[in-house]
Amino acid sequence: MSGEQNEKLTELLKLLKLNNGDLSKLTQEQRKEMKDYKFWKTQPVTRLDESVQKEGPIDRKKTPDEISDQPLPLLGDFEWCTVDVTDQKQLEDVFLLLNENYVEDRDATFRFKYTREFFNWSLRSPGWKQDWHVGVRVGSTKKLVAFISAIPVNLRVRDNTVRSVEINFLCVHKQLRGKRLTPVMIKEITRRVNRCDIWYALYTSGTILPSPVSVCRYTHRPLNWSKLHDVGFTHMPSHATRNQMIAKYTLPKATSTEGLRPMEEKDLDEVRLLFEKYQSRFDLVQNFDEAEFKHWFLGNDEKTASNPSSKVIYSYVVENQNGQISDFFSFYSLPFTILNNSVHKELGIGYLFYYASDADLEYADRFSPEATAALKERLCGLMNDACILARDAKMDVFNALTSQDNALFLEPLKFGPGDGFLNFYLFNYRAFPITGGIKDDKSYDTVKRSNVGVVML
Ligand SMILES: CC(C)(COP(=O)(O)OP(=O)(O)OC[C@H]1O[C@@H](n2cnc3c(N)ncnc32)[C@H](O)[C@@H]1OP(=O)(O)O)[C@@H](O)C(=O)NCCC(=O)NCCS
Repeated sequence: MSGEQNEKLTELLKLLKLNNGDLSKLTQEQRKEMKDYKFWKTQPVTRLDESVQKEGPIDRKKTPDEISDQPLPLLGDFEWCTVDVTDQKQLEDVFLLLNENYVEDRDATFRFKYTREFFNWSLRSPGWKQDWHVGVRVGSTKKLVAFISAIPVNLRVRDNTVRSVEINFLCVHKQLRGKRLTPVMIKEITRRVNRCDIWYALYTSGTILPSPVSVCRYTHRPLNWSKLHDVGFTHMPSHATRNQMIAKYTLPKATSTEGLRPMEEKDLDEVRLLFEKYQSRFDLVQNFDEAEFKHWFLGNDEKTASNPSSKVIYSYVVENQNGQISDFFSFYSLPFTILNNSVHKELGIGYLFYYASDADLEYADRFSPEATAALKERLCGLMNDACILARDAKMDVFNALTSQDNALFLEPLKFGPGDGFLNFYLFNYRAFPITGGIKDDKSYDTVKRSNVGVVML
């Protein structure tokens, strides 16, 4: 991929999850010292200048009784609200807030197309609590101006599994930025989670905070180059023609892995077993119980069956000739609405989610040349098929991080590196650094790969 094309494609990235994108900004933030983090320096997180000596909880164990049952005070005309995402009107308030404020898009050309199905999937996983869908409204108008959410997870950090939450969808209205509402939001959701006897959290951000436990890079693989070009995401590199670019990214008509088929309910137990074996190699992992596994990989919205365009999660298995499942992969859909374009109204975006394969399970050392070659070959075949299936599901670009074993297939399958990075953080838990699949020069680390095995939405 040429420098120019790469640059343009990575603009897409800025819209995808992040407010980061900009390397110069990263450098500036990296220069920010611990004392400058007026809020974070008061929180139980690893300090920027700290070298971790021992993994484990930071604050002493408290009990929920020690935590106030009163919400934090809010200044001015603001009030807390608990958002009921099963209520269409309240759900629309969240869409509106996130659509208009979650991503930076100066031209206001693209907006996330959040749907009820997406929130049903991402915010209502087993054990979800309405109390953890926290909003702030203007008292007089009731307009929703900020949001933060948590879902319960069992998180394994190397050998220790801790009951935690994943924090997501933090958003403050653009007109209220820089007013220190974020620390209040974080403290309030912490209070609500602590009241339920949960003391740890996993969260990600494009910005540097004290202190990342891992850093991964975003990558993307064009599936429909001409459309990406037509809507202004990518420009023609000077040395190439349109046809050459289309040819470069054209995928085969059909998938090639024998035995590949959509995952079904009957597969759940077998796939979960394979998945657990595969995930055991990583240092930062979300453990799924039976109900969670079903939720995350088959979805919880029956209606999507009758309306395929609202489908959020796509899961596939490979069943070999003996009827055993040797591989599994999944990706999810979160499209953009395209404004002001007479031809294209929507941009389909697929995100690689979890996968597992038995290709290298027989080897004692996952990093041995034989194990690496076996897994690389298998993953290249599987992920190429994932791209084909994503394309067939009307997705125009397929995104992946450098987490998991992704570094093995990214380059061969033409996933271009983005300029966005995703930092992983643990709240109230110290951990040694975890490899994120990138080298010091930020290129893919095909040797060490990544020990991040968790995928955050
Ligand atoms: C992220 C966002 C909520 C921050 O709001 P803001 O108005 O700039 O920040 P505030 O004045 O309210 O608070 C500043 C504090 O929040 C911290 N902060 C900023 N972004 C943060 C994040 N994503 N996660 C945790 N803390 C964050 C800052 O470091 C600062 O604390 P410090 O003094 O210890 O450094 C806002 O920019 C936003 O809604 N962005 C778009 C959505 C988004 O990117 N969400 C985060 C996804 S990871």
